[in-house]
Amino acid sequence: MAQTIFEKEDKLFFRTYKRLPIEIVKGEGCYLYDREGKRYIDFFGGLAVNALGYGHPRVKQAIQEQVDKYVHLSNFFVQEPQVNLAEKILSASGYQKLFFTNSGTEAIEGALKLARKWGKNNGKTHLFGLSNSFHGRTMGALSLTERAKYRDGYEPFLPNVSHLSYNDVGELRKNVNEQTIGIILEFIQGEGGIFVVSPEYAAELSELRTKYGFLIIADEIQSGLGRTGKFFGFEHFGVRPDIVVIAKPIGGGLPLGALLGNERVADVFSYGVHGTTFGGNPVACAAGLAVLEEIIDHGLMAQAGLVGDHLKSLFFKLQEKHRALVKEVRGFGCMLGVELTREGQPVVDELQRRGYLVNCTNVNVLRFLPPFTIGLDQCDQMVNELASILQSLQQ
Ligand SMILES: Cc1ncc(COP(=O)(O)O)c(C=O)c1O
Repeated sequence: MAQTIFEKEDKLFFRTYKRLPIEIVKGEGCYLYDREGKRYIDFFGGLAVNALGYGHPRVKQAIQEQVDKYVHLSNFFVQEPQVNLAEKILSASGYQKLFFTNSGTEAIEGALKLARKWGKNNGKTHLFGLSNSFHGRTMGALSLTERAKYRDGYEPFLPNVSHLSYNDVGELRKNVNEQTIGIILEFIQGEGGIFVVSPEYAAELSELRTKYGFLIIADEIQSGLGRTGKFFGFEHFGVRPDIVVIAKPIGGGLPLGALLGNERVADVFSYGVHGTTFGGNPVACAAGLAVLEEIIDHGLMAQAGLVGDHLKSLFFKLQEKHRALVKEVRGFGCMLGVELTREGQPVVDELQRRGYLVNCTNVNVLRFLPPFTIGLDQCDQMVNELASILQSLQQ
């Protein structure tokens, strides 16, 4: 008998991904369709990549037009799609310079190198990450990442990197000093389960930066580019980081990331000290410009905020009704977490059976990362099903 695609996959690949037991064959708007023709409403959002859903006409057109011109040139050449996207990102964000990469983790590596070189120039030697963080899978990014799940077995990590407890103001005060190069953090932790920085922590971080002159490095790979209803997640906390790392939605589904820097780090890199073959691929950049125009100029950032307010109010109602099952509701916009008092996987499996794709992270957190274009009625439908699942668990 012919092998199923799942059997083939199991034979062919290193076992790094535990795939879902459905094969998606098409995406359209906020819907995904499996091989059997079943339709799902997508709250997975390609893990925060598909901000505009699937098959957005402007993104498709931008990709097609660029494919017809050139797909790759090399970074020896100046390329219009890169320049147009850089202009858009820097004017929207107020940062001074950027560097394009292929992925989030590669952008983190670039930020790490930028920070270390800046540290060398300024007599600073030590970097801090925070507990429960995730910054990517390459060795530099893993050195900054704290969660054991991602690190175990890959030791040793980079020297002069250590971790502080998330939102522990006292520990922060005790540990930073003139030797500190910087602190990298997710103002809203994604893989860690949608934990949010406290206003006190954010304020202290800013004050200590003024005192010691270190860099604040924001990992906005998951929370950035409008997902939380603001262009960057850190804008909810009144902090202005020195280096910002973005990826996920920026290429419209094609691999693209970037690091951005302010005037403090703008002149640290010089010719040849950093580079990439594929980073800033012109097709990905052309798609990225269409994505950003939709997010910034055509109201999708505000839409992400509205969706979030709506979903959050429904989740709070669920929490009120099922206090024994729903521990906490966290996040902003289209980046929300519902922490359960029990494992989330069975809930997510049942949602999937009913036609809703939701991710579970950190064992008991239901994570919602829908496209910003998701309809409020689609949110209502999903929450109704979730309510009925929780109801049956309560009995
Ligand atoms: C906050 C954060 N940082 C870094 C990464 C790594 O990005 P990539 O998988 O593109 O390397 C991710 C990916 O999930 C992320 O959510």
